[in-house]
Formats: sequence, C-alpha cells, structure tokens
Amino acid sequence: MNAPVTTKATQLFDVAPIPHSRSRSQHKRRERPKDIIYRPATPADGAEMWKFVREAGVLELNQAYAYVLMCQHFGNTCLVAETDDGMVGFVLAYVPPRQDDTVFVWQIGVAREVRGRGVGLHLLRQLLALDGCRNVRYLEASVTPSNKPSQNLFRAFARKWDVSCRKLPFFPSEFFPETHEPEYLYRVGPLHWPSA
Ligand SMILES: CC(C)(COP(=O)(O)OP(=O)(O)OC[C@H]1O[C@@H](n2cnc3c(N)ncnc32)[C@H](O)[C@@H]1OP(=O)(O)O)[C@@H](O)C(=O)NCCC(=O)NCCS
Repeated sequence: MNAPVTTKATQLFDVAPIPHSRSRSQHKRRERPKDIIYRPATPADGAEMWKFVREAGVLELNQAYAYVLMCQHFGNTCLVAETDDGMVGFVLAYVPPRQDDTVFVWQIGVAREVRGRGVGLHLLRQLLALDGCRNVRYLEASVTPSNKPSQNLFRAFARKWDVSCRKLPFFPSEFFPETHEPEYLYRVGPLHWPSA
C-alpha cells in the first residue's frame, strides 16, 4: 500500500495500457436498482462491512478493526450502498500519502443479489464525487490475476470515462508470508471533469 512501490513499478517494468475489451453492456443489462442510497461511511459501519466480506466469501477478509479504522481515518473516501434492508455494497479507499492526485481502492464489494447491475460502477462514480477526491485524477486498485470481475469493473470504469486502464506489476507473490497470487496495479486515468 506504499506509494513508492507504484513509482518503482512504473520505472522498472513495461507499462501496458489495457485495450478496451468488448463490453458486457453490449448485452442487455438489468437496470441499476433505484432504492439504493450511497452515503459516506462512518466507523459504525466497520462491523457490518466485516460481516459483509465474511459472507461474500470472495473478498479477502481482514480484521474487523481494519474496517473500523479505515472508516475512521478515511471516511471522506469510503462509501456504503444500502437499502432499507441493509448494506448491499461498499467501497473502502484512500488518497495515498505523496500521491494526492490518486485514490486507491483498497476493497470494493457488491452483494450477490445486485451484482452485474451497475452498482459497482456507481460506487466508483460516487466515490469520485466525494469531497476527499476533489484533487483526484487517477483511480488505482490492486487486483490478482484470478479476479476477473474486479479486472472487468476497472476496465469498464475506464471505458466509461474514455480513459486508459494501465496494468502494472505491484506486489509479487514473494512479498507475502503465505501462498498468495501476485497483485497487479490497475491505474485508471487521467480523469477529466465533469464525469462520464
Ligand atoms: C467486482 C464487483 C464489485 C463488481 O460489482 P458489480 O456491481 O457486479 O459490477 P457492475 O454491475 O457495476 O459491472 C461493472 C463491470 O464489471 C464487470 N463484471 C461485473 N461482474 C462480473 C462478473 N461476474 N464476471 C465478469 N465481469 C463482471 C462487467 O464488465 C461490468 O462492465 P460492463 O458490463 O459495463 O462491461 C462485484 O462483482 C463483487 O463484489 N465481486 C466480489 C468481490 C470482489 O471481487 N471485489 C473486488 C476485489 S477488491
């Protein structure tokens, strides 16, 4: 999560813009649910996020404390999507030190029952509309090679803004104490206002 790694990666490895792939939206997509409210996260949301991730089963589950802490320190760059029945998605992000033109998405999740309906894309759009992102021109996330939904989410986001999505080496497997896929940095931008 350190900013200098990004810089190093840019210097040491080939920088490959990811071509815009064929859009799944060329197929008929179900409408984005209208009863969802998107609001900034507070530390009181941390426990619910932790449960959400545990139940989703796909995302890497971190300590509950990490979710509470992220919302406490980075509440102006974290969002909850909810209906009257509870949380249906969230995004935890922050602006890394010494990289104030970038918002780094640490974790994003959408409830199974509303996936594939534009909620993930809308969370990213709403994230960029937050005051904490007022100087942001790049959106970054670290993604493993097996996480196709996530790769497609960031590519689709880039396509909608008509900007490039670059894939850079970020954290090799050896950085982790246990078996772990390498993490690649997806860098979307430069973003131009007003948003797409
Ligand atoms: C990744 C995730 C957040 C996307 O949210 P979503 O609301 O389903 O995404 P959207 O409906 O906004 O779709 C956005 C793009 O993602 C892609 N996508 C979404 N679900 C996908 C799937 N299951 N397989 C392949 N691509 C998928 C599509 O390309 C879509 O763009 P397009 O149809 O406009 O081309 C959601 O699938 C999720 O929570 N997955 C499990 C957790 C996870 O992997 N999180 C990311 C790691 S931090």
